[in-house]
Amino acid sequence: MALDIVIMAAGKGTRMKSRLPKVLHRLAGRALLQHVLDTTAQLGRHPTLVITGHGADQVEQAIRPSGALSVRQEPQLGTGHAIQQVVPHLGADGTTLILNGDVPLIAAGTTQALVDACGGERLALLTIELDDPTGYGRILRGSDGAVLGIVEHKDATPAQREVREIYTGIMAAPTALLKRWVGALRNDNVQGEYYLTDIVAMAVAQGVPVVASQVADETEVLGVNSPVQLADLERRYQKRQAHRLMEAGVRLIDPARFDLRGTLHTGQDVEIDVGCVFEGTVALGDEVRIGAHCVIRDAVIDAGAVIHPFTHIEGAHVGAGALVGPYARLRPGAELGPEVHIGNFVEVKNSTLARGAKANHLAYLGDATVGERVNYGAGSITANYDGANKHRTVIGNDAHIGSNCVLVAPVTIGAGGTIGGGSTVSKDTPPGQLTVARAKQVSLSAWTRPVKAPKG
Ligand code: UD1
Ligand code: MG
Repeated sequence: MALDIVIMAAGKGTRMKSRLPKVLHRLAGRALLQHVLDTTAQLGRHPTLVITGHGADQVEQAIRPSGALSVRQEPQLGTGHAIQQVVPHLGADGTTLILNGDVPLIAAGTTQALVDACGGERLALLTIELDDPTGYGRILRGSDGAVLGIVEHKDATPAQREVREIYTGIMAAPTALLKRWVGALRNDNVQGEYYLTDIVAMAVAQGVPVVASQVADETEVLGVNSPVQLADLERRYQKRQAHRLMEAGVRLIDPARFDLRGTLHTGQDVEIDVGCVFEGTVALGDEVRIGAHCVIRDAVIDAGAVIHPFTHIEGAHVGAGALVGPYARLRPGAELGPEVHIGNFVEVKNSTLARGAKANHLAYLGDATVGERVNYGAGSITANYDGANKHRTVIGNDAHIGSNCVLVAPVTIGAGGTIGGGSTVSKDTPPGQLTVARAKQVSLSAWTRPVKAPKG
């Protein structure tokens, strides 16, 4: 049966006190609205309409890749008025699912159940019982339990305000009836708005069945109105992800200090210390250990590798059994082979290090191809950039680069060669030999140290 999806996102979000439209604030690295779009995508491909208003240009740009259609609502005269704007874009029949752009954690299964409950014939409301229902629309039921309508908090009598079952803002309605109902809305209420919630009483009056299903997990229907609520939802979301990982056997030293902003694939016996942030898509092989306070984005870390604390990894591949950090930085294109060691304050960018190569302290490798078992000394760098172009440095197997060397690319260091400490190497070096490229050391026997003139 035809399904149209409508996401309301025209509101201002005053309490965020931000220039960014509320629905573009990020939860676990994704815009609130993106969470909703990703969830509805799980229902299959259906026409999706986003109602925009405040910050419409920015919101419309953000949703473009999703293929959703945006419909502007200006001015914003209430949720019923918002739905009036999309009426011309809805199908002729079937079901319309209405969601809020600032309620990011609604689950696909919950929305599917609501769509099924509607079945293109019944008005299906998602509700929940709250200890403190202040501010929400209350579900009014008759003595037989049948839903009679929704009354907004501001319009409710003291007795109605006692009701703890509230409307979550999420519903599924028969499309043809929805169109008729929103056309008949009036704004004679304390807020002078067109309330979408008034269609419930219309349905009841016309004998259309109304079903209210309660959602079990309140996290699914919590909205974001302020930075405090955003942070609260972020924590709940992270906790959920952390628990899912732990159930898969990952050992998180403290699930309350774990952040995943993307997707994490894990092997067996993975251990993650506190304060780590994973972004994009990260894969950790069997027995990988991640030390405290690492930031890892779009990376593959093979079995048995150990990432020591305070390491930053982006767009890199770490080979099996490699040791990285503490305080290392792997930038995009860093390809570490098995058993490679990268130590403190070492930066690697767009470079391949073959099995067993080591750069243990204070070094830079950019645009380099490093052979097996190479030892790259402290303080050494590849001078890979001439101000206009990047050039490659090639270091043969078993070469030793002393401390504080500058390898001026393009340059090739022959296999098994040694470069003396402090050398600036700008020409290719032969294999198996010692190359020293620095001023010769001299000692002057006739030299005497200047003496200060005595004070007069
Ligand atoms: C609404 C419901 C209330 C429910 C609550 C749940 C109505 C009249 N009331 O109240 O029963 O308990 O949500 O959170 O629907 N929006 C627009 N255009 C507008 C007005 C709002 O797009 O003109 C969007 C907002 O951006 C938001 C959503 O609709 O995403 C809900 O609007 P909001 O103003 O928060 O409604 P509430 O008063 O909270
Ligand atoms: Mg609200």
